[in-house]
Amino acid sequence: MLRLGYSPDALIEVLHTTQQSFGYLDGVALTYVGETLGVPLSKVYGVATFYSLFTLKPQGEHTCVVCTGTACHINGATGILAAIRARFGIGPKETTPDDRISLVTARCLGACSIAPAVVFDGEAKGKQTPAAVVATLEAL
Ligand code: FES
Repeated sequence: MLRLGYSPDALIEVLHTTQQSFGYLDGVALTYVGETLGVPLSKVYGVATFYSLFTLKPQGEHTCVVCTGTACHINGATGILAAIRARFGIGPKETTPDDRISLVTARCLGACSIAPAVVFDGEAKGKQTPAAVVATLEAL
């Protein structure tokens, strides 16, 4: 926040850095960020819950982001999500009971030319199939 001049316009970047630092955004963090930037908690909470890459709960050891934007949807994202549910028993915004894998969805990762796209621990992979995604997650 200091680096960004405590600007209310820096809210998204501050939330992103906060999540990178602590793994997720809890009530204490949201309140602190809001009070420090002079942004109402309702707005901070609204931003944190609007963007799918922000999470209010602790995440698993590994994170899998399945893009469900139009290009990825047309090219098989639904099948990927179904395969993950069938193999690991989790849906979007859920974590496996052993805390190993968290599943998140996003509305376009900006990689439509390689749809369907999936991000594993920050590394994007394109042209994914349900079997390939399950294999990657099993390896993790
Ligand atoms: S729709 Fe999936 S990367 Fe754009």
